[in-house]
Amino acid sequence: MFVVLGLWLLVFPAALSAPAREQCTTGKNKLLLVSFDGFRWDYDRDVDTPNLDKMAMEGVKAAYMTPPFLTITSPSHFTLLTGRYIENHGVIHNIWFNITTQEKKQYYMTQFVDEYWDNGSLPIWITAQRQGLKTGSHHFPGTAATYQNEKVYKETVEPIFYNYTNETVWRENVNTVIGQWFKNEDLDFISLYFGDPDEVGHKYGPDSPERREVIKKVDRTVGYLRETVEKNGLTDKLNIIITADHGMSTVFKGENVNEIILSNIPGFSLRDLKFHMVDYGACGMLLPKDGMFDKVYNALKGGHPNLHVYKKEDMPERLHYSKHPRLLPIILIADPGYVINGFYTFQTNKGEHGYDNEVMDMKAFFRAVGPDFHNNLLVGPFESVNVYSLMCHLLGIQPEVNDGSLDNTRHMLLSNGLSCVLKAPESILQNLFIGLSAVAGFLLLVFVVVTSNNVYKRHKGNQSRTEDTSDEDETKDDLKQTTF
Ligand SMILES: *[C@@H]1O[C@H](CO)[C@@H](O)[C@H](O)[C@H]1NC(C)=O
Ligand SMILES: *[C@@H]1O[C@H](CO)[C@@H](O)[C@H](O)[C@H]1NC(C)=O
Ligand SMILES: *[C@@H]1O[C@H](CO)[C@@H](O)[C@H](O)[C@H]1NC(C)=O
Ligand SMILES: *[C@@H]1O[C@H](CO)[C@@H](O)[C@H](O)[C@H]1NC(C)=O
Ligand SMILES: [Zn+2]
Repeated sequence: MFVVLGLWLLVFPAALSAPAREQCTTGKNKLLLVSFDGFRWDYDRDVDTPNLDKMAMEGVKAAYMTPPFLTITSPSHFTLLTGRYIENHGVIHNIWFNITTQEKKQYYMTQFVDEYWDNGSLPIWITAQRQGLKTGSHHFPGTAATYQNEKVYKETVEPIFYNYTNETVWRENVNTVIGQWFKNEDLDFISLYFGDPDEVGHKYGPDSPERREVIKKVDRTVGYLRETVEKNGLTDKLNIIITADHGMSTVFKGENVNEIILSNIPGFSLRDLKFHMVDYGACGMLLPKDGMFDKVYNALKGGHPNLHVYKKEDMPERLHYSKHPRLLPIILIADPGYVINGFYTFQTNKGEHGYDNEVMDMKAFFRAVGPDFHNNLLVGPFESVNVYSLMCHLLGIQPEVNDGSLDNTRHMLLSNGLSCVLKAPESILQNLFIGLSAVAGFLLLVFVVVTSNNVYKRHKGNQSRTEDTSDEDETKDDLKQTTF
């Protein structure tokens, strides 16, 4: 009786101290990462967006998200997938280039250059797969590449010259991802990409009626997406993050605009360059010929009031765009509204991105909804390097080395970042172990007391035996073998 009471007292407090019903992230829910290319943080302000509004009521809405610099598509998407700044993941531009052969591959063909993407940072698909999850990617930048001999399990690579305009096709893509991949094939994580509103933003400008129209289309697609999730019974099992790679800024046009044309800058000549990346919008990179560095740099520095010229190693630290060997020795950044031209202006875009990520027009949209997220919560801005650790936490996987932290997004979560999978079972086991050790110690004490009592009795010549003492004698023999 005494022993039973002792056991109870020892085990019960251990059970009490385990974090039994605290809110925690199970890591068992599925996760969908959606990117609408070029969805600026404030695009929903001048358009009626009932579905995005409903999503904000039921989930988390960030004031805005700061993309990495360079604020362009492939580099910024790869930051979402790896949690690394661009100088660390190495996808430094949409365009692959070789300074020796002068060869350049455009955005689309660069998707297939494995060594360009696979430069030491693993995208979340591969990491999740290695930890037993099933992943997929639909049109997301980086999907086509192979990483350390592995590819994302389920992939749809965007076809060349893909036409983004057909809304029915958007819905078919949603059906594939939700109905087939999540529901029928039980995938755990999928990234899904749409090329708009970026395309419309470039062509017509961010303040155009066309851009407002395409936001309505995005909104309808978000509505359709959530409806499809509901129909497939996934609402309580699927977390959804909807975000973007960068924003968009109106390009200044007209007679009065002092355009940046490098060949018009006194003392500068394109002939002094071995290789250049200009005529790509807001930014440029130059490799001067041997002995020409100072001439090129000095001519351009101060050569135009809206052109910022940096030696690669002098780039502001906050941009995290100076350490990678692929970056060329001189980096050019235009002020918002300007684009960098080589010989003459032939860039016709009315909207452009690629500017400093402190520029408000470059900030991206961020919303999230699902079983692990708070309802109707507005959060402050954060950097997009942090989305990766948030996603790893939601999926219950161990992240790779990265530049972000869950500390910058944990307040979005019902669990505040407490994981059931990693932390709770550990502490339950610990408590159980402590409890069992205490029980063992207690039993040992009981036996020692009983045994010495027995020995004492024997000394007194009392040979009367009961069932109890015979048990004690057997146990005494065991104790001899094991303990002494
Ligand atoms: C560029 O081309 C040269 C000459 O073919 C080659 O040796 C070098 O490895 C290439 N560099 C890259 C980054 O592909
Ligand atoms: C990344 O690319 C650079 C330059 O192209 C190369 O020197 C470096 O070895 C690559 N690193 C990895 C880990 O692939
Ligand atoms: C895309 O398709 C639509 C018809 O759905 C057509 O009007 C438009 O011109 C096409 N766009 C391009 C860039 O081919
Ligand atoms: C849009 O796509 C659907 C489904 O693929 C197709 O049936 C329809 O003809 C397309 N519409 C246009 C205008 O191209
Ligand atoms: Zn983009």
